[in-house]
Amino acid sequence: MDDTQIKEQVRERYADIARQKLAGKPSSCCAPSSAETSCCAPSDVIPADLLTTKDALPDDIVNTSLGCGTPLEIAQVQPGETVLDLGSGGGLDCLYASKRVGARGRVIGVDMTTDMLTLARANAQKVGATNVEFRHGELENLPVDDNSVDVIISNCVVNLAPDKDRVFREAFRVLKPGGRVAISDMVTRLPMPEIMRANIASWAACVSGAITEKEYIEKMRAAGFVGVDKVAGGENPLEPVYSAKFVARKP
Ligand SMILES: C[S@@+](CC[C@H](N)C(=O)[O-])C[C@H]1O[C@@H](n2cnc3c(N)ncnc32)[C@H](O)[C@@H]1O
Repeated sequence: MDDTQIKEQVRERYADIARQKLAGKPSSCCAPSSAETSCCAPSDVIPADLLTTKDALPDDIVNTSLGCGTPLEIAQVQPGETVLDLGSGGGLDCLYASKRVGARGRVIGVDMTTDMLTLARANAQKVGATNVEFRHGELENLPVDDNSVDVIISNCVVNLAPDKDRVFREAFRVLKPGGRVAISDMVTRLPMPEIMRANIASWAACVSGAITEKEYIEKMRAAGFVGVDKVAGGENPLEPVYSAKFVARKP
């Protein structure tokens, strides 16, 4: 299985989910069955401080989330900032970020799956968010200018990328000096066995592409990030694959 084949499978999987969601069908999970560990437990995907009536989003939009956490809770996004969401899916985190940055700020979501972009744009239109745009592109080759972003967020996506080094190098390129990264992602307690790596269905379900926390941190540092830290996740030693949160910044 080469990188192109992995990406093709991942794209097909999320296109299928997006089409179901666009058709109003309940497709709440990226895993094919609940028996499979996945990124998309419908747990807490709403940042605690955005649970107010004023900032609430409609349930049907919240339900488009395929995330594994709340990167915005650790991103400390400020009014007027530019936020980039890597693998924006149905756009939930972008829409929450749009409330944080306000009219003077802007939010860019990037996703490689056209149907996901359609879903995200429909969601943005539904709530009248005008400071958000969704761009078609790959994390490995971001359609974003150098040194142009204040904050990068990402929710359950980097694990799906076959070339994570390149993803982190691209993230580093587009961040302004001093810019921050806040990521929720699936990681493993032990290195993933090769036989699991070859399971494409499991890869697309956010399991087989996951790497250990240590590798994750090393790869971010190798890309040039400083202050790289895991700030949550992995508390239950019985979970072999779990959601963790990472922060970092560009010097
Ligand atoms: C598990 S979903 C998460 C979506 C969203 N972040 C959320 O929290 O709901 C993964 C998303 O990442 C996108 N994706 C996966 N690999 C990607 C890549 N290499 N480049 C761009 N998008 C990618 C998929 O198309 C899909 O929309």
